[in-house]
Amino acid sequence: MTSVRRAKITALGTYVPPRVLSNFDLEKMVDTTNEWILERTGIRERHLVDKGVAASDLAVEAAKICLANRGIDAKEVECIIVGTVTPDMMYPSTACLVQHKLGIPNTWGFDISAGCSGFLFSLTTGAKFIESGQYKKVLVIGADVNSSMIDYKDRATCIIFGDGAGAVLLEPTEDGEQVGIIDHVHQVEGVGGQYLYMPGGGSLHPTSKETVEQNMHVVHQDGQNVFKYAVKKMSEMTVKVLSRNHLTGSDVDCFIAHQANRRIIVATAERLKMPMDKVIINIEKYGNTTAGTIPLAMQTALDEGKLKKGNNVLLAAVGAGFTSGATLLKWAY
Ligand code: UT7
Repeated sequence: MTSVRRAKITALGTYVPPRVLSNFDLEKMVDTTNEWILERTGIRERHLVDKGVAASDLAVEAAKICLANRGIDAKEVECIIVGTVTPDMMYPSTACLVQHKLGIPNTWGFDISAGCSGFLFSLTTGAKFIESGQYKKVLVIGADVNSSMIDYKDRATCIIFGDGAGAVLLEPTEDGEQVGIIDHVHQVEGVGGQYLYMPGGGSLHPTSKETVEQNMHVVHQDGQNVFKYAVKKMSEMTVKVLSRNHLTGSDVDCFIAHQANRRIIVATAERLKMPMDKVIINIEKYGNTTAGTIPLAMQTALDEGKLKKGNNVLLAAVGAGFTSGATLLKWAY
């Protein structure tokens, strides 16, 4: 009997830089309070890099832990996909820098720019290479240094973001093995670009004295519009991927959503009628690390004993673009 070849996650590694910025630290920087941030977002603290540390550095640390957890040498990796919107530089891609830093002699790789959906888009792309039989070991990384493009005078934006990274290894399922990535739904809606963007430094507004003076090299966010879209879309995408696989929220053992705001995750879980003990929330410790949140939350789920072999896991994300997605998988180890 031949069975469908799926991609399964066989190892995970995560990394956040050691420096912590608490809500109390932010109280000294902008007109805000610990109570407001906690109540409106669920965040207590976030980790930030020191000067000179870039997205590829966080990606490499997470990748090394992932590969060590799998017990394989980096040389075995055939493809590296990095989800990031804070690459070290415009080019070369972060994937090239990671390849070089890990010393992998013979691999392919590229970056995916999808905002907070960056990890999910990268995971799906990696899974397709495994399902097609092209590769047997794909490293999928989500890494962002948000602090490099945040205006620490904009109190409505600076409070939610942090820096961090996570990496997973994708490998093919064995014959008859009933685990791995089952299905996914994704969407982009460019009409949302106006609500969350970083305008300066690209080909439309190349860096100049004017772009710096006009504060165009920082994240601009209309929080309320992003929030409303995120609540609507995260529910829509999760319901879609579950229903077309004849499942409901009660069939899900573990819900791991992008961590942008506690209220977005809770609203989605309520819509899916999912008890909160199946919902992973670690935003308190890390804030919104963009492409880093889902692997960081997977690590929290593992640490809390909430991810076991064969579990039905639902992943979901909404981000700048707008981009969105939901992925259904059975945990493999
Ligand atoms: O990762 C994907 C992308 N990002 C997101 O998903 C973020 C989605 N949006 C959000 O999470 C929320 O919109 C924020 C946390 C960013 C903001 O929370 P909010 O409840 O939507 O606040 P708001 O922007 O509607 O502002 C409400 C009030 C305003 O005061 P007035 O005009 O009512 O007097 C703001 O000036 O809260 C004020 N405010 C603050 N007050 C204290 C905004 N930021 C702060 C702050 N501290 N840090």
